Amino acid sequence: MVKDSRIPGFYKLNREKRIEKLKEATGIDAKVLEPLIDPGKVDLEILDHMIENVIGSMTLPLGIATNFAVNDKDYLIPMAIEEPSVVAAASNAARMARDHGGFQATDTGPVMIAQIQAIDVPAPFFAKNRILENKQEIIELANEQDPILVKFGGGAKDVRVKVIDSHVGPMVITELIVDTRDAMGANAVNTMAEALAPMIEELSGGRVLLRILSNLADLRLVRVRATFDKEMLGGKEVVDGIIAAWAFAEADPYRCATHNKGIMNGIDAVVIATGNDFRAIESGAHSYASVNGYSSLTKYEKNSDGHLVGSIEIPMAVGLVGGATKVHPVARACVEILGVDTSTELAHVIASVGLAQNLAALRALAAEGIQRGHMSLHARNVASTAGARGSMVGKIAERLVKEKNIKVERAKEIMAELTGKS
Ligand code: MEV
Repeated sequence: MVKDSRIPGFYKLNREKRIEKLKEATGIDAKVLEPLIDPGKVDLEILDHMIENVIGSMTLPLGIATNFAVNDKDYLIPMAIEEPSVVAAASNAARMARDHGGFQATDTGPVMIAQIQAIDVPAPFFAKNRILENKQEIIELANEQDPILVKFGGGAKDVRVKVIDSHVGPMVITELIVDTRDAMGANAVNTMAEALAPMIEELSGGRVLLRILSNLADLRLVRVRATFDKEMLGGKEVVDGIIAAWAFAEADPYRCATHNKGIMNGIDAVVIATGNDFRAIESGAHSYASVNGYSSLTKYEKNSDGHLVGSIEIPMAVGLVGGATKVHPVARACVEILGVDTSTELAHVIASVGLAQNLAALRALAAEGIQRGHMSLHARNVASTAGARGSMVGKIAERLVKEKNIKVERAKEIMAELTGKS
């Protein structure tokens, strides 16, 4: 466990020193970090068994975000991403939340949904009721497929059924609700859904076609909140600017797509570092954001002290067992650096990074706009002081800002140049 994720000047150290600090802070065995430090140490045999037609590997830079405290526990967070500024921005935002208690996270449990599609059902609503009457038998058959999951407290917990209209007529969709514990759960729920097909065919009188999990994992939500310090953000005007930037995203899908992309910059980087399925996370995030018309995954307000309070609610289907997380040596090292014990704890950390990343992006965008606004206002005043009037004020101010030389003397020179009088 990391005692203190605040490592001042981490970014100024060279790579060797950063690794030393990381070892010190986490107490991790040097051997575990080897494949992460030197990609040549990752056995190609392992990769060859992960996908088809393997010829090599593709390495991404792996950085460490500092300053994070989630539910009063400190984390050093590995982030794999090709885009500059993301790791620095996340660390910076986490610093601004740190003195106000860091990030507070809760969740709805590691619960996934599997869908079983029945078509050609003679009486869909009658079938729906029959399936629901047999809920207990369905759950039992599903759980027979994964006794280990059941032993750990997971397994199928509920069944829901809906009749939907489609281009090929009505369909009866049975949804199996499964607690997948520390697994992302795709394999577990797909196996259960497949095993249920004959039973659903019999109960519905129709034909089962698809049996697959839904990436709209809205029963596996994480909620995170944090208070970002007003002064550290740059004052009241920046706080108001961030709220207005967020409101823009809420009001306009073109802006919202970019706003949510900024959230996913942070989220994907940790998801990739830990060997999780970032396409599943992307799909879940954007479909969840679209449920009531595409909107922001985050919210921003001001508290009674004028500090910025931010929150995020997002599906987070990540696991710690199975898949690349267990197989890939770099992913294993990243999980160890994080020091997370459950998939839910990992989900809390990842959603916190998403909130931090979004806050950092909005601050950069809004503060820059505010600064530029200040500069041009200042330049207009300088132009007026130099004697400019009417449209000449704007013309001179523009030149002063462009030249980054907002001085009365220079304003006079430009005015002489523009009016032909010297
Ligand atoms: C760039 O990768 C992400 C941002 O565009 C996000 C945003 O606009 O909020 C900066």
